Amino acid sequence: MKNQLLSMKEKAENALKNAKNLQDLEDIRVGLLGKKGELTAILRGMGGLSAEERPIIGQLANEVRSFIEEKIEAQKSVLLAAERSEKLKAETLDVTMGGRTPIIGKTHPLTTVLDEVKNIFVGMGFSIAEGPEVEYDYYNFEALNIPKDHPARDTQDTFYINDNVVLRSQTSSVQIRVMEEQKPPIRVIAPGRVYRSDAVDATHSPVFHQIEGLVVDKGITMGDLKGTLETFMKTLYGNDAVLRFRPHHFPFTEPSAEVDVSCFVCGGKGCRVCKGEGFIELLGAGMVHPKVLERCGIDTSVYSGFAFGLGLERIVMRRMNIDDMRHLYENDLRFLNQF
Ligand code: DAH
Repeated sequence: MKNQLLSMKEKAENALKNAKNLQDLEDIRVGLLGKKGELTAILRGMGGLSAEERPIIGQLANEVRSFIEEKIEAQKSVLLAAERSEKLKAETLDVTMGGRTPIIGKTHPLTTVLDEVKNIFVGMGFSIAEGPEVEYDYYNFEALNIPKDHPARDTQDTFYINDNVVLRSQTSSVQIRVMEEQKPPIRVIAPGRVYRSDAVDATHSPVFHQIEGLVVDKGITMGDLKGTLETFMKTLYGNDAVLRFRPHHFPFTEPSAEVDVSCFVCGGKGCRVCKGEGFIELLGAGMVHPKVLERCGIDTSVYSGFAFGLGLERIVMRRMNIDDMRHLYENDLRFLNQF
């Protein structure tokens, strides 16, 4: 029995060394010290021992039991510590590690300048109007005094959905929609996308943006138009900006003008940017044609109005010194990040 106990002790030591986890430990404990374990089985033979042997074997058995129990406890703390450090390693968070900088977007140059333009006009008491980009021929042409056979349609050739529906070629269509819905006094700007069947080059795109302006009230004159545009341009380009009105023709205004601003590079002396002119063409404008007002049910013996339309791309390009319009649409971050 003594040998049995000693070999059990040795066996326990080896088994415990190989125990890889807490479950292994428990299995070993049950197998050796449990009710149906090896020790119990050995001790069952105690009955056959002599009175002298019995206490000696009993003491040995107790020693073996506490030896094994201690070993199990010791191994348990080793395994627990290992498990803990394993877990810590897996959950490591290096607070000193540099973070990933999120890419923060910014507004597109077109949006930046449009916001600026809107702010200037809102500051003058204008509100913002909107109209559809897919528009009836009536609003885009007919109501603006441009009937089907009018030559002005040539320069504004656009994309036809059918005979009566087009992709609008100008934001002037919004003038009509506003006048149909609102009674004077009217003071709106209408920014938006417009379309023309133009080939793409440095200064043309089949899709671009315009900002329309419309004011209708009692006693509105060309002087109001000049004052409004001058305030706008000086706010945008600085107090030195000088406006120049040139007579022009638009079917929906009478009289009509094209408006130039003194070159912001040379101040009017003439340079490469203004092609020696000293001025840069900026927009079309005029007094709203009485036929246009009347078609919208506005009494021209009481009311008059002015309108203007400017190209957003042109302002942005001049503003930010961009020499090719295509840059504005290509979404190349190397370009966009410069602004
Ligand atoms: N719609 C014109 C164009 O695209 C620009 C324009 C001219 C708008 C005169 C106006 C205006 O409101 O009065 O060429």
